[in-house]
Amino acid sequence: MTQHDRLLIIDFGSQVTQLIARRLRELNVYCEIHPFNRVDDDFLRAFAPKAVIFSGGPSSVFSEGAPMPPASVFDLGVPILGICYGQQVMMHCLGGRVERGHGTAEFGRAFVSPGRERLDLLDGWFDPDRDPDRDGGREQVWMSHGDHVSAIAPGFKVYGTSPNAPFAITADPSRHFYAVQFHPEVHHTPKGAKLYENFVRIAGFTGDWTMDAYRDEAIRKIRDQVGDRKVICGLSGGVDSSVAAVLLHEAIGDNLTCVFVDHGLLRLGEAEQVVTMFRDHYNIPLIHADESDLFLGALEGVSDPETKRKIIGKLFIDVFQKYADEIEGAEFLAQGTLYPDVIESVSFSGGPSVTIKSHHNVGGLPEKMGLKLVEPLRELFKDEVRALGRELGLPDSFIGRHPFPGPGLAIRCPGEITRDKLDILRKADAVYIDQIRRHGLYDAIWQAFAAILPMRTVGVMGDGRTYDYALALRAVTSVDGMTADYYPFSHDFLGETATRIINEVPGINRVFYDCTSKPPGTIELE
Ligand code: XMP
Repeated sequence: MTQHDRLLIIDFGSQVTQLIARRLRELNVYCEIHPFNRVDDDFLRAFAPKAVIFSGGPSSVFSEGAPMPPASVFDLGVPILGICYGQQVMMHCLGGRVERGHGTAEFGRAFVSPGRERLDLLDGWFDPDRDPDRDGGREQVWMSHGDHVSAIAPGFKVYGTSPNAPFAITADPSRHFYAVQFHPEVHHTPKGAKLYENFVRIAGFTGDWTMDAYRDEAIRKIRDQVGDRKVICGLSGGVDSSVAAVLLHEAIGDNLTCVFVDHGLLRLGEAEQVVTMFRDHYNIPLIHADESDLFLGALEGVSDPETKRKIIGKLFIDVFQKYADEIEGAEFLAQGTLYPDVIESVSFSGGPSVTIKSHHNVGGLPEKMGLKLVEPLRELFKDEVRALGRELGLPDSFIGRHPFPGPGLAIRCPGEITRDKLDILRKADAVYIDQIRRHGLYDAIWQAFAAILPMRTVGVMGDGRTYDYALALRAVTSVDGMTADYYPFSHDFLGETATRIINEVPGINRVFYDCTSKPPGTIELE
């Protein structure tokens, strides 16, 4: 099996440790984040990192039981980069001194000026064209520390200082140990990526973490895990489950069966698209479970948002299980779990309690049905899943699709759900998305959809009176869906879209645009 060069990030509980991993993955370097209390001598031996990074963290090296790496990490003979608390840990362990804040704490923007000597880690970092007499060739960084290093460890020298951190950049070049007080991984250290680039170059990484290589390796891993046994995969039409399904199919062919549960709450043409793509184009055995009568029947008369969600969630599991039972000999359930869902995070107190987030898309099923999990995307970030999808030949139009929630149109139809309203909503949503695509805005928007409001309003069309539904349009920008801002469409766009929807979709005579950010709103209406 191919073995990538691996970089180990030891997590001391920083809020931004994941960003270190992002910066490294952007450099095609394979890295894993592990909490300090899981890293011992055996782990280091097995992991065999080509370089190690110590993250920042909220602790103080003075506190009792302060998070520390195993001493053997310094004997691995590989480059180590310590960041913020990671720098203090290095100094503490290697014979330097750390002191408490006392007026030297720094939070936020700071400027680091170069020392006298050259350091390989800083190649291309300080701007040589800036006049050292005027601004000292200084470089902006982002600091966030209470304690600070007051004496560096033997073998180390200073290569950069800031007003409150005389040891902002330190290194022992002979051992390739580097320690910085600031956070190069955050956006506010504009040239931070350069430090990581230099660090991995010094460590000898070749940038072999590409999606092409990953695809082959992932296929081999799936075959090793599954052998000739059968796998079922719940397909939602979203990017993660689709990429997982196509990858699995490449690995095990017809031993994969996908189950696509159509709850009658999908968008216009969505079921046909999913079925055509997977069954006809990819030849993946696919059960199209048309259970719309069951779901819509159970939702009849229900208007409370939580009750709707609970009904849908429970029925989804029942239905999935019913179809999965028909697949004889299925031993595995495939899920599109991603890396951010599985990173073990160190609790903020730095204590030994470790929280593991694990995402069960079809929650509770694996245990209930005695299925083992296959999670071929668990090492990937979302943008890497998209890159893998492209590698597997999924069309761009599919990979770039906006997220769509599991409960579907049910949560875009506040109040009672009727087939009538769903039909109107599907048509209106299709016109809205078509407008967005025609204006070239689809990729600039994180998620956009229409919602049919539980109210009718009076209008006049031709010479007649109308009394029809009102529609809300929503479009947001976001990075991860946790926070969001409304998309600032032009008035022309909004006017044109409202006119098209009212002209083309019988049943709608009024259109609103939702200008609420998240918080205080949520993205979906329910
Ligand atoms: P909210 O409305 O909470 O939505 O701001 C944030 C993101 O999550 C999606 N969403 C869901 N996705 N199952 C899902 O798979 C759900 O139950 C669900 N509820 C909301 C929503 O579309 C948005 O992208």
